[in-house]
Amino acid sequence: MVIKNFKLAPSILSADFSRLGEEVRDVSAAGADYIHLDVMDGRYVPNITFGPVVIESIRPYTNLPLDTHLMISEPERYIEDFSKAGSDILTVHAEASTHLHRTICQIKETGCLAGVAINPTTALSTIENALPYVDLVLILTVNPGFGGQTLIPEVLAKVRDLKSLINEKGYSTQIEVDGGINANTASQVVQSGADILVAGSAIFNKTESIALAVERLRNSVQ
Ligand code: DX5
Ligand code: ZN
Repeated sequence: MVIKNFKLAPSILSADFSRLGEEVRDVSAAGADYIHLDVMDGRYVPNITFGPVVIESIRPYTNLPLDTHLMISEPERYIEDFSKAGSDILTVHAEASTHLHRTICQIKETGCLAGVAINPTTALSTIENALPYVDLVLILTVNPGFGGQTLIPEVLAKVRDLKSLINEKGYSTQIEVDGGINANTASQVVQSGADILVAGSAIFNKTESIALAVERLRNSVQ
């Protein structure tokens, strides 16, 4: 039985926002690899979460990379702000980026790693030409906007196709998968080719300690 290596990026979307700094500190101590920050503007997605000021406030609580997922319209307007706030990775949605190559270059000029995200029914062909420029592709396995949704299994075929494309081209692009990942789904997501798993409600679920939730998720991957 080969346990595949994968990295875990807990999403603070389901954390206790009245104690966000401690939650970030605790999940970092529990063995997370990244902290996934779901920024939502209420326009690109039907929910509003937080902006650069919250990223700035949690920065001192962890040394882990802050993996910022921008679910916002015209993300190019805020690249500087999120970078200055302390983000290490900035991921924009292909569907929200009119000039994706220019935005990717803008992200890299700040020193951040650049990611491009696609929604469940957005075709891989939309981002194929961006692969030489991005450090990671974030594949949404739910419709963006809320935590605690069910993973859409058909999207895993897209993860497999992306993995094949990256291998065929010889790229080192990482595949991050986001949405509905828990102890029941993590294995198939990793087996589909994911390098980084985002998990929010499975980690910050208030029914068990963060450390136990992280351990359970990691041990569920066969
Ligand atoms: C998009 C968000 C969520 C979140 C993960 O809505 O990006 O997918 O990170 O939430 P869970 O792990 O609860 O599905
Ligand atoms: Zn996300």
